[in-house]
Amino acid sequence: MEKTFQGKLGTYIVRETEDKSLTIWSGFFDENCHSLAGAINETIYNYLEGAEVLPKLTEGRPCSVFEVGFGAGIGPKLTINKWRELGAKAPLSFISTELDPALVEFVRDNSEEDFLKNLVRDENGHFVFKEGLLTFKILIGDARKTIKEFQKENHLIDSFYQDAFSPKKNPALWTVEWFEDLKIIAKDQAVLSTYSCSNAIRKSLVQAGWAVFNRKGFGTKRHATIAKSQGESSDEILLSLSRSPVVALVDQNL
Ligand SMILES: C[S@@+](CC[C@H](N)C(=O)[O-])C[C@H]1O[C@@H](n2cnc3c(N)ncnc32)[C@H](O)[C@@H]1O
Repeated sequence: MEKTFQGKLGTYIVRETEDKSLTIWSGFFDENCHSLAGAINETIYNYLEGAEVLPKLTEGRPCSVFEVGFGAGIGPKLTINKWRELGAKAPLSFISTELDPALVEFVRDNSEEDFLKNLVRDENGHFVFKEGLLTFKILIGDARKTIKEFQKENHLIDSFYQDAFSPKKNPALWTVEWFEDLKIIAKDQAVLSTYSCSNAIRKSLVQAGWAVFNRKGFGTKRHATIAKSQGESSDEILLSLSRSPVVALVDQNL
């Protein structure tokens, strides 16, 4: 039977996906955190592979990840476990963001992983786990605000997991302003990966100064998007964006 719980934003339902891994449906956003085709496989494909984290962990290079939306915690779970499995040879920092602290508490209290079970809240209400070369932090609150504080820390990012709910349901995290904020904390060779291939979000990325590329989507999805903090977008993308009447998303509430 599906498990239901109450968060700060509303009701959540824990659901099994096709690869037997669990995802969480949010009543507030009326969407699942993952494709029902498989939460784990989707996360490996879209983020550990798409945002080029795996080569860094394999080669023992330092790696800093910024995740847009903690949700069910699958992103950090897979990344940190993979880092450990590959020998934890260099520092890993994993920064996530989450609007609903009750969701983080639910994941923490139902988790086997030490880095989730032992998360503690700091003086600003963010969740933190630090051990040796690992720093894991979940910034609590609207990411559009918490990123402004994070920018002051001068902590630059290699890989972005752009994993908000869909642009339709969660437009605030797909705007030109949002991608400009991500660019401020991006290293020169940073890579952003996302499951969305909408022309509107690709236009937002291009306007925010990212170079945009097409990638095959997970499972039956035809396309996904990669963006790089330096370089030029692919000609094919620029041509198709120039032919599309949709406009970039802008933040209405800033
Ligand atoms: C698709 S889920 C993320 C799934 C997650 N990456 C995982 O692997 O389990 C999106 C998450 O973004 C959070 N979110 C939505 N809007 C937000 C905002 N403005 N600031 C911070 N988090 C937000 C939602 O509450 C939700 O938990």
